[in-house]
Amino acid sequence: MAVATAAALLAALGGALWLVSRRFVGSRAQRLHEHGDPGLMHGKTVLITGANSGLGRATAAELLRLGARVIMGCRDRARAEEAAGQLRRELAQAAGPAPDAGWAGELIVKELDLASLRSVRAFCQELLQEEPRLDVLINNAGIFQCPYMKTEDGFEMQFGVNHLGHFLLTHLLLGLLKSSAPSRIVVVSSKLYKYGDINFEDLNSEQSYNKSFCYSRSKLANILFTRELARRLEGTNVTVNVLHPGVVRTNLGRHIHIPLLARPLFSLVSWAFFKSPLEGAQTSIYLASSPEVEGVSGRYFGDCKEEELLPKAMDESVARKLWDISEVMVGILK
Ligand SMILES: NC(=O)c1ccc[n+]([C@@H]2O[C@H](COP(=O)([O-])OP(=O)(O)OC[C@H]3O[C@@H](n4cnc5c(N)ncnc54)[C@H](OP(=O)(O)O)[C@@H]3O)[C@@H](O)[C@H]2O)c1
Ligand SMILES: *[C@@H]1O[C@H](CO)[C@@H](O)[C@H](O)[C@H]1NC(C)=O
Ligand SMILES: *[C@@H]1O[C@H](CO)[C@@H](O)[C@H](O)[C@H]1NC(C)=O
Repeated sequence: MAVATAAALLAALGGALWLVSRRFVGSRAQRLHEHGDPGLMHGKTVLITGANSGLGRATAAELLRLGARVIMGCRDRARAEEAAGQLRRELAQAAGPAPDAGWAGELIVKELDLASLRSVRAFCQELLQEEPRLDVLINNAGIFQCPYMKTEDGFEMQFGVNHLGHFLLTHLLLGLLKSSAPSRIVVVSSKLYKYGDINFEDLNSEQSYNKSFCYSRSKLANILFTRELARRLEGTNVTVNVLHPGVVRTNLGRHIHIPLLARPLFSLVSWAFFKSPLEGAQTSIYLASSPEVEGVSGRYFGDCKEEELLPKAMDESVARKLWDISEVMVGILK
């Protein structure tokens, strides 16, 4: 009995030590990736969708630190202003009282609801009037496995926000990106694209709704969109790349119900195994700012390195068909 108890205690202690060491190694990896060059993004304007939370917020913080002018495109002004206030305070603290505190970027909040084509159009109209240039567009906002919902325009919510809203946004900002070249577009997808398919016969999931499938489908659409856009942008000095961030502790799981009793365990597992938002944002930051990827386009990245795609994500005919149908759906057919 005593032996069994001692063994259980030892196992628990070993497990706890192992978890802590995982965290420690994780945070070391994070520091290794921190690009130290303040001023790298000085004079550059970056638009980040969904920048008030999770990966978008961490990406905004780092690009600000690198000197960028960051526009946060967010659906909820109050949440966005709160996040912006925090980011400004963190930046001021990091800079310290020194008068020559390096390049401190500038932060602007704008309303953008990707579940409304009207909102996307209004946002772009204002941005095009106010901003003389746009150097980086980061299509980051996303919604994950929500119950069946439709956007203002009647699209299935995950396909509508993750793909179609960003499709129209990118289309409307492409002229400004081209006139600001060399410029970059960064698309945040997910490894879960593997479980999706572009089922052209039911893009709004009116016949049946499977929330996991629809998330995966929207993330596959992000990759196909990137590859088709890269093809169309050849020779313009506007590049577009797509990434998966890994599994990251953010608010993305808000629609996932975890039973009350399982929550402590889930917190422990996510603390031990999930990346922090800053760790998860490293590939977005890298693709947005690193000189290493100057001129690189149409590629898929994870942990700041190029990765291979499944054949279904490289299918050019599906990519073209998705592009054409997306143009019809958002109403921009020439
Ligand atoms: N976390 C992960 O493990 C993981 C893994 C793979 C891929 N990703 C991808 O990473 C991206 C960022 O997600 P996250 O993990 O940082 O989640 P998050 O913390 O939930 O952030 C998502 C952001 O998207 C915004 N958003 C949602 N619907 C929107 C709409 N209709 N219009 C405008 N903005 C909208 C949210 O705004 P509100 O705060 O107002 O809701 C929030 O700012 C997503 O594209 C996601 O698919 C995440
Ligand atoms: C829903 O979609 C996922 C991913 O495509 C699949 O693994 C799962 O079996 C589907 N569920 C149902 C009930 O069809
Ligand atoms: C792209 O950049 C190269 C190198 O800076 C330049 O020579 C070329 O004119 C640019 N092309 C366009 C279309 O801007």
